[in-house]
This record gives sequence, structure tokens and C-alpha cells, in this order.
Amino acid sequence: MRALLLVPLLLSQSAVSVLINRQFPHLIIPLDKRTPDTPLGTKYEGRVEHSVWTEISFDVPNNSATYCTLNFSLNTDPVKNAPRTLWGVAPFRFNISALEPKMDRFKDTWNNHPALKEQVGQVEVSHNGGIWVWGMSVPCLKDTVAQYVLYPDNPARDFGFSWFELDYDPPHGITYDMHG
Ligand SMILES: *[C@@H]1O[C@H](CO)[C@@H](O)[C@H](O)[C@H]1NC(C)=O
Ligand SMILES: *[C@@H]1O[C@H](CO)[C@@H](O)[C@H](O)[C@H]1NC(C)=O
Ligand SMILES: *[C@@H]1O[C@H](CO)[C@@H](O)[C@H](O)[C@H]1NC(C)=O
Repeated sequence: MRALLLVPLLLSQSAVSVLINRQFPHLIIPLDKRTPDTPLGTKYEGRVEHSVWTEISFDVPNNSATYCTLNFSLNTDPVKNAPRTLWGVAPFRFNISALEPKMDRFKDTWNNHPALKEQVGQVEVSHNGGIWVWGMSVPCLKDTVAQYVLYPDNPARDFGFSWFELDYDPPHGITYDMHG
């Protein structure tokens, strides 16, 4: 796996960037080690723990975007009450790698899923909903699918995180952001 330059995303962003388009996942597919050969289909919930990785697929539109990023946000507005759970030992971090764009909601399992490509980022969450991201810069895969997998950053540290992906403002979960 290629080393990731741990530069906060903000440093690489131009001050005049405009968010042209924000995509929410089209597919959220858990890969569960405890049922390693059972396809679990697509869900509204994302989950990352040692026995569950989550595949994410975006349908990326065509537009005039010049750079694209993944983003992860949590909506902590008590009125929205957006579900999330976090457990284990800090720091609570997961990695994101690109996948060969061959996800299949009817077939993908722990034992049978598209190959991981390069790591694109890392996300750290906290109990109060704070988020830190590193990397997250991705190619603008216009008019096609962009697919990723989320997994714990350190197999030796107890970790689990789940969230209900919600199209709120700010969003609750992972998005594919297209900037111009
Ligand atoms: C994609 O969008 C750009 C900007 O709107 C446009 O100039 C271009 O023709 C589009 N390409 C295709 C293949 O539709
Ligand atoms: C997660 O990313 C960090 C930073 O690139 C890296 O040091 C670590 O080995 C990665 N973890 C896994 C399980 O690949
Ligand atoms: C991620 O999205 C949130 C919510 O829209 C926004 O406040 C934040 O600036 C975005 N982060 C990046 C690095 O673009």
C-alpha cells in the first residue's frame, strides 16, 4: 500500500474553491468477516470495525469540476439526532482506499470483493462528533463510478464506528465533493 502524505486537506485547497456538486453514496455495502461468504447487499448505515469493512460507491456526474475530494462530516445538531456509534480505544481512525470499480451489491463479501488500490485518505472521529481528515483528494471520475473501502487504520487497536448516512446540511457521513 502506498504511503499517504498526511497533510491536512485544508492546506491543499485554494481559497477560491467552489463546491459545484456533492454526491452521497449510491451503494453502502458491508463486508463482514463473521459471514465471510454471504453478500449483505446495500445499506443506509456505514460501519467500520475489525470484522466489518464498508464499500462505498458514488455515481459521479459530469460537470466543470477541476478537483474532487472525499469528505466526511457528522451532523451533531441535537434536533436532527443523526445516529452514530463509536467504541474502542482512541485515536478512533479509519483509512479509505480506492477500489477497482467493480463493486457488485449482489456478490461482494469479505472473501470476494474488488481489489484495493491506493489509499486516498484517513479519517479520525471523536465521541463529541469532531472530525479530522487527511488526504481525501481523489480523481474526478466524471460520468462513471468512484468506489472506495473504509477499514480500521490499526488492526491492533480496538475500534468500531457506525453512522446512518444522511443527506443533511451539514451531511452525516461520507460524500464525494466536486470543486471548481
Ligand atoms: C462534461 O461537462 C462539461 C462542462 O459542463 C462539458 O463541457 C463537456 O462537454 C461534458 N462532457 C460530456 C462528455 O458530456
Ligand atoms: C492507515 O493509514 C496509515 C497512514 O497512511 C498507515 O500508516 C496505516 O498503516 C494504514 N493502516 C492500514 C491497516 O493499512
Ligand atoms: C466537509 O463538509 C463540511 C460540511 O459541509 C464542510 O464544513 C467542510 O468544510 C468540508 N471539508 C472539506 C475539507 O472540504
